Amino acid sequence: MKFFLDTADLGEIRWAEQAGLIDGVTTNPTLIAKSAGDVDPTDILKEICSLVDGPISAEVVAVETEEMYTEGKALAQLADNIVVKIPMIEDGLVAVRRLSADGIRVNVTLCFSSVQCLVAAKAGAAYVSPFLGRLDDIGHDGMDVIRETRAIFDNYDIETELLAASIRHPRHVTEAALLGADVATMPAPVLRKLLLHPLTDRGLDRFLSDWSKIAHPSKVEV
Ligand code: G3P
Repeated sequence: MKFFLDTADLGEIRWAEQAGLIDGVTTNPTLIAKSAGDVDPTDILKEICSLVDGPISAEVVAVETEEMYTEGKALAQLADNIVVKIPMIEDGLVAVRRLSADGIRVNVTLCFSSVQCLVAAKAGAAYVSPFLGRLDDIGHDGMDVIRETRAIFDNYDIETELLAASIRHPRHVTEAALLGADVATMPAPVLRKLLLHPLTDRGLDRFLSDWSKIAHPSKVEV
């Protein structure tokens, strides 16, 4: 499973990249707005693309086909690793078809059902992004969409990557991985939590404390 970082925060991206923990980044207008301040969003995207050698999703804010297509083309010019993110609406799907025909990779976002994912894949999406946390928030089980979409894509040998988004906690990552999602995109705090277990910390404390009881503790020399 690939891990993407769901953020436009350059500090978080640098940390995750240097730790070798991520394969790509996803952004959206909310995340860019949070990080941009006075900085031009385009500069932030370019910086992210130079920091991470993997797909970087950048979302259009237009909602009509022609404008989405033009904006998508412009975003794709920013760097070779840009993936254009398009919302799952009818005008968007036409833009997806046109951008994919031009060889531009597209991530269809705001998917909340497996059939939306199927339609997006048929339009030529390279990635589909079902939102797990937001479905859970309204009392649904977001993981049902992952399970169904995986089965549908496998039934028809669809190569579109299934990208589990709106991830809120490590259990989302585990379950999405068990169900065969290709990618999990998550905020930095969730990525950090993937590394943690209280028994790991307790175990290390014990090892170090026991070692310190040796009369002349020393490190093994190379
Ligand atoms: O970037 C799309 C998605 O991951 C957003 O997540 O937490 O805003 O529902 P969230």
